[in-house]
Amino acid sequence: MAEDLRRAALAAREAAYAPYSNFAVGAAIRAASGAIYSGCNVENASYPEGWCAETSAIAAMVAAGEREIVEVCVVSGGATPITPCGGCRQRLAEFGGPDTRVHSGDADGLRGSWTLAELLPAAFGLDRR
Ligand code: THU
Repeated sequence: MAEDLRRAALAAREAAYAPYSNFAVGAAIRAASGAIYSGCNVENASYPEGWCAETSAIAAMVAAGEREIVEVCVVSGGATPITPCGGCRQRLAEFGGPDTRVHSGDADGLRGSWTLAELLPAAFGLDRR
């Protein structure tokens, strides 16, 4: 089911700009329309100014006029499946729901799957202000 997302994430990962960490990441989001938006990490000589693949994919989705995340896949080249960092979990929660699935994979296949509620329990949102 998330195979198309994994492939899109792998393609985006090819463009990752990660000369400082040498850790290339790709992400792909299926939005409400069914369209897939992808992104890669973009690092910076001033390290904290770099951003994650998930952030790039979210920006592509929003710039295309979509605001609802249905499903996500992140890919790396590491041995252990990665999950989105804390900041990206919060960004994904802005446009996804507690049941939105976040898959993790690599070049060989899918390696894990979580819901956003599992990754970010008791998430801060408009309802908690
Ligand atoms: N990174 C991502 O792009 N997504 C993740 O889910 C985890 C980490 C990036 C940030 C940085 O460019 C590199 O991976 C090493 O942390």
